[in-house]
Amino acid sequence: MKRNILAPSILAADFTKLGEQMKETEKNGAEYLHFDVMDGIFVPSISFGMPVLKSIHKVTDQVMDVHLMITEPVRYIQEFADAGADLITIHYETCEDVGKTIKKIKDCGKKAGISIKPGTAVSVLEPYLNSVDMVLVMSVEPGFGGQKFIDTSLEKIKELRELMEGRDIHADIQVDGGIYLSNVEQVLDAGANIIVAGSAVFGGDAGENTRKFMEILKEHE
Ligand code: DX5
Ligand code: ZN
Repeated sequence: MKRNILAPSILAADFTKLGEQMKETEKNGAEYLHFDVMDGIFVPSISFGMPVLKSIHKVTDQVMDVHLMITEPVRYIQEFADAGADLITIHYETCEDVGKTIKKIKDCGKKAGISIKPGTAVSVLEPYLNSVDMVLVMSVEPGFGGQKFIDTSLEKIKELRELMEGRDIHADIQVDGGIYLSNVEQVLDAGANIIVAGSAVFGGDAGENTRKFMEILKEHE
C-alpha cells in the first residue's frame, strides 16, 4: 500500500511570507511542495520559474514537485533540474515527443511525472506508464488556482488505478485542482495517493490546514 502524501501548491501562498508558510506546511507533515510553472502559452497565465525554485529549495527538506505547464518542456528540463527540482511533471498534450521528454528527466537523475488535462483520456498514458514515477490527473483546467473540482476526474482516477494494477505498475497517482478538506476523501478513495492543494492550504492558516489534511491522509492509508 502506498503512503499518502500532501503537496501544498505555493501558487496560492502569500509570497511576502513564502519561506515561513513553507516551513509551516513542512512542520505539519507535508512531504512535497508543489511548484506550478506556467508560460502564458500552454496555459493562459504566467507564474514563476527557475530563480524562485533555486532560492526556495534550499530552505526546506520537502520534495520539490515541479509541475511544468509549458510548451515543449524538454527545452527546460535541465534548467529545472539544476535549480533544485526532485520530481518533474510534464503534460502529455504539450510535448512533441513525450518519450524523449521523460527520458530527459531521467537522464538528469530526477523522478518523472506525466500529466493529462481534464479533457484528455487516460488511455493515452498507456505507452508511458512503465517509465514514469507518477501520473498527475488534473481535476481542473490547468492555469489557475481556486477553481472547482471537476467530478468526472474521480472516474479517471479509478480507471487509471485499475489500468496500473492490471499491469502491475506501482507509480504514484497525483491529483491537482479544487481539492479541499471536504472532498479529499473521495479523491483518495478513487485511488490517488498524492494530493495537491493550493487554496485549501494557503487560504488561511497554512500549518493548521496542513495538519487537518494530514489527519485525513493518514486515516486513509
Ligand atoms: C492549476 C495548478 C494547481 C493549483 C491548484 O493549474 O496546477 O496546482 O495551484 O490550486 P487549488 O488547490 O487552489 O485548486
Ligand atoms: Zn499544479
